[in-house]
Amino acid sequence: MKKIVLAYSGGLDTSVAVKWLKDKGFSVIAYMADVGQGGDVSVAKKRAIKAGASSVIVEDLKDEFIKDFVFPALKANAVYEGRYYLATALSRPIIAKGLVETARRKNAEFVSHGCTGKGNDQVRFEVSIGALDSKLKVIAPVREWEFSSREAQIKYAKAKKIPIDVTKKSPYSIDKNLWGMSIECGVLEDPWKEPPKDVYQMTKDPFKASRKPTYINIGFKKGIPVTLNSKRVRPQALIEKLNKLGGAYGVGRSDMVENRLVGIKSREIYEAPAASVLIKAHEALEALTLDRELSHFKSFVSLKYAELIYYGLWYTPLKSALDKFIEHTQKKVTGVVRVKLEPGSATVVGRKSPYSLYKEKLATYTEDDEFDQRLAKGFIELWGLPYKK
Ligand code: ARG
Repeated sequence: MKKIVLAYSGGLDTSVAVKWLKDKGFSVIAYMADVGQGGDVSVAKKRAIKAGASSVIVEDLKDEFIKDFVFPALKANAVYEGRYYLATALSRPIIAKGLVETARRKNAEFVSHGCTGKGNDQVRFEVSIGALDSKLKVIAPVREWEFSSREAQIKYAKAKKIPIDVTKKSPYSIDKNLWGMSIECGVLEDPWKEPPKDVYQMTKDPFKASRKPTYINIGFKKGIPVTLNSKRVRPQALIEKLNKLGGAYGVGRSDMVENRLVGIKSREIYEAPAASVLIKAHEALEALTLDRELSHFKSFVSLKYAELIYYGLWYTPLKSALDKFIEHTQKKVTGVVRVKLEPGSATVVGRKSPYSLYKEKLATYTEDDEFDQRLAKGFIELWGLPYKK
């Protein structure tokens, strides 16, 4: 029997995909990567077996996800189109890597995912898989199968006795991991309609948040957050804690229409409390420690880096080259940033670093001033010379 490793989520699409692939003659290995999406793994496992999987493999990739995917994106300040912190996009290359490694271990010639033919995720999976192992063949059931609606899938699932809980299913399509949550479909498909309150799951309505601000100190070492309020915290705990703290103030929401790689525009809601706080804090520390030219140049790199993530180009030469550049820029991004959380906002209110390039004696307007103002005259003379002539 031909073996196939399917990226399995436990949802309707991938459960139906197990059965569909089995009916096409495959022995299906359901592969579940834990990137912090939550949910009951044991329920999902049972469901995969009931749907016809020959085995289920669950892998905890959370640490690796943070270390090798999230933190590089943080060092790059990667944000797509100004509002999307790329949680979903970042998870695809690591899941692809898991699929490829599992396929090799299990001697499978095929891998599979449950993405639709209209989205970015199919591109991210397949480009990543191809870059990691060009011999693997990919089958994308959702792109191929005959079901024209969710109802048709449910009917199929019922007929084939695949246990699904249709009642509990929300009207939205949701993807979640430690770095944030992406929510689309349902009423959100009309970009004029305000998102109903039940859309948001990681963040509280700012109107219901405490009016009392919370201050947090985030300590960075070479661009990576390592302490919270002076205590060393492991990366996963730190991100979870910031998701909770920020979420309680309704921080990190975005409602946007974005440009998909496949040419269409789509409306998506994002929640990313930790990501939004950390990137803000990281940028503030860079503002203190990077010189002007490096800082300005790096912001172009940020844009490109975010695009590479969004476009599924993680395992590419340009991405590796930019990583080297970004790593180099982080040598002195060490220090502490103070963030104030208030209903609906996180604001940087303080920053300090042993490598600070801010010199009070140069900036001050008091008697301590060491800036020689007479030098400005000649500087301006030469700077403006071309425009005088
Ligand atoms: N638009 C986002 C991206 O392409 C998220 C895609 C998944 N969204 C979802 N709600 N299932 O990265």
